[in-house]
Amino acid sequence: MIQETLTVEKLPGCGAMVHDVDLSRIDARLADVLREALFEHGVLFFRNQSLSRQQHLDLARAFAPIDINRFFPADPEWPEIAKVEKTREQTSNIGGGWHTDHSYDAEPALGSILVARDLPPSGGDTLFADMYAAWASLPAELQDRVRHMQAIHSTAHVFGEGGAYAQSDQDALSGSRDLPETIHPVVIKHPGSGKPVLYVNPAFTTGFVGLSKDEGQELLYQLLPHAIDKSRTYAFQWEPGSVAIWDNRATWHFARNDYHGHYRLMHRVTMAGVPLEAAF
Ligand code: SIN
Repeated sequence: MIQETLTVEKLPGCGAMVHDVDLSRIDARLADVLREALFEHGVLFFRNQSLSRQQHLDLARAFAPIDINRFFPADPEWPEIAKVEKTREQTSNIGGGWHTDHSYDAEPALGSILVARDLPPSGGDTLFADMYAAWASLPAELQDRVRHMQAIHSTAHVFGEGGAYAQSDQDALSGSRDLPETIHPVVIKHPGSGKPVLYVNPAFTTGFVGLSKDEGQELLYQLLPHAIDKSRTYAFQWEPGSVAIWDNRATWHFARNDYHGHYRLMHRVTMAGVPLEAAF
């Protein structure tokens, strides 16, 4: 019953804060309300939650089956829960660049639910960027150029041998032989809202069909400033009890790495998505 008082407060830049809801009491009706809000706002934030590991999984399953990330270390007793961890000694973090999760999969994940477990005294915000707004903000010539294009999304340069994580002190994320590469439309029709979304990202998009590597990089650099313009991003400051649910098709995110010497542990559960269709 308390769930009926739930309110959704749109935040500046990207996302919405959901008030007066207890995520441990998820049911089909609440999942429908949250799904609709998620597809509209791209990311939902919650304060003062108290989710056990089992409740975290139940919440994710209310949206979609779980899609286990192949690269992240899992909680030792809960293989469906990925640990996003940085120790006091490590200097690199996980997700410290603009990206969207699993865009390299043929059916990219719907989204992820991140639960704060152990936070540094300050810093460690997660930034989110609105890809509906990014598409809408592109100048007409750039929209016309990319409207019917397709992009290549890969993993080897991030998770493969010699990739970014292998060269860092987060090398537990590297070494998998399962290094997918796939192609998606550059502008997708969001599977939930039907709206056009810019669907490339600097971490996993490695090229565009029909363009050389250099031309592809140049195009990505042209799109980037529109995607991460301050007016279309929001920095979420974590507190004990905070939870974020994001839609990977509608947002990018970036984990700030500004808390060296302190421990940070988040639990991430990722929800399965569907094949993506071109918007146009
Ligand atoms: C991620 O899923 O990319 C990590 C986000 C975070 O740790 O804030």
